[in-house]
Amino acid sequence: MKILVVGGAGYIGSHMVKHLLDTGRRVVVVDNFSTGHRDAVRAADLLELDIADANAVAELFETHSIDAVMHFASFIQVGESMTQPAKYYANNLAATLCLLEAMVKAGVSKFIFSSTAAVYGDPDYVPIDESHPKRPINPYGRSKWMLEQILEDFDRAYGLKSVSLRYFNAAGADPDGELGERHEPETHLLPLILQAASGRRPSITVFGRDYDTPDGTCIRDYIHVTDLVDAHDLALKYLDSAGASAAFNLGNGQGYSVDEVIEAARKVTGRSIETVDAPRREGDPARLVAESSTAKSVLGWQPQFSDINTIVAHAWGWERQYPWRR
Ligand code: UFG
Repeated sequence: MKILVVGGAGYIGSHMVKHLLDTGRRVVVVDNFSTGHRDAVRAADLLELDIADANAVAELFETHSIDAVMHFASFIQVGESMTQPAKYYANNLAATLCLLEAMVKAGVSKFIFSSTAAVYGDPDYVPIDESHPKRPINPYGRSKWMLEQILEDFDRAYGLKSVSLRYFNAAGADPDGELGERHEPETHLLPLILQAASGRRPSITVFGRDYDTPDGTCIRDYIHVTDLVDAHDLALKYLDSAGASAAFNLGNGQGYSVDEVIEAARKVTGRSIETVDAPRREGDPARLVAESSTAKSVLGWQPQFSDINTIVAHAWGWERQYPWRR
C-alpha cells in the first residue's frame, strides 16, 4: 500500500508521515512549503508541488501507484480567513478540488480529509456531535464544510470514498521529541503559553474573561496530535475494509479553559507564566467540546494522551528544543 500525504511537512502531516513510515507503509509526501518544514520529513519521496498545479498532480498519480490520499494541506488561521477569504477558498477549496479531480482520473478512491470543529460555528449545544447543524461563521470553516459537501457529491457520482475528520483543538507534540508544532506566526494557545514559559515571549495574552464559563475564559477540547494520527490510521483501515464515506469528530470530550491550560503549563514546566488580559478575540465561541463516541464505536479509536498534563508535557519537550534541531 502506498499513501500520498499532502501537506506532510506541516504540523499534523509530519507526525502522520512519521507514524506511517514507522509502521512500514510506503509514503509519498507532497508539500508546497508555504508553511511546512523540509526538515520535518524523513520520507524518501518528498515532492515540492502545489496541488493547484493540475498537470503536476496528474503526473504524480501517473508516476506513483497511490492507494489512498491523506490531505493535511490547508491554511488554518480563522482571523486571517476573515480578511483574506480568497486565499482560503483558493487553497482549501479550489486546490483541493483539483486534487480530487486528479484522484478520480487516476482511479484512486480513498481520501482522508482534515476537517475541523469550525464547520459547526457557534454551537447550539455541547458536547457537539456530528449531526449538530453546520453553520460555520468564518471562511476557514466554510471552506472545510464546502469541501465536505463536495466529497458527498464525489462519492455519489464517482464512488470516491472519504473520511472527514473534524479535529477540535490539535495540540501536543511527538512523544519521542522529534516533531512538534512550528507555525509562523504562531497563533495557537498552547505553543504561545509555552513560549512565555521558555522566555521567548514575555507573557500570554488571555482573550476575554467575560465568557459564560466557570472562570470566564474560553473552553476548548484539546486533542493530542498522536491521537489524531491514530484516528487517520484507523480511518484508512476503515476505508480499506469497504467502510462508507463518513465524518467523525475528534476530541477528548473534556473541555479546559484558557486559565486551566495556563495553570497546567505552570505545573508541568515549573515556570511562572505571566498573563495579560485583553478583550475577546472576534469569532471565539465560549465553549467547544466534542462528542467523539462515533469515532470510537465505528473506527475503534481510543485517545491515549487525553490528560492535559501529558499534552502540555510533550509540547514543552518540543519547545525546550528551540531553535529546533535541523
Ligand atoms: N487564546 C488566548 N490567547 C492566545 C491565543 C488563544 O486566550 O494568545 C484563546 C482563544 O481565544 C481560544 C483558545 O485560546 O479561546 C484557543 O485558541 P486557539 O487559537 O489555540 O484555537 P481555536 O480554538 O481558535 O482554533 C482551533 C484551530 C482552528 C479551528 C478551531 C475549531 O486552531 O483551526 O480550533 O474551532 F478552526
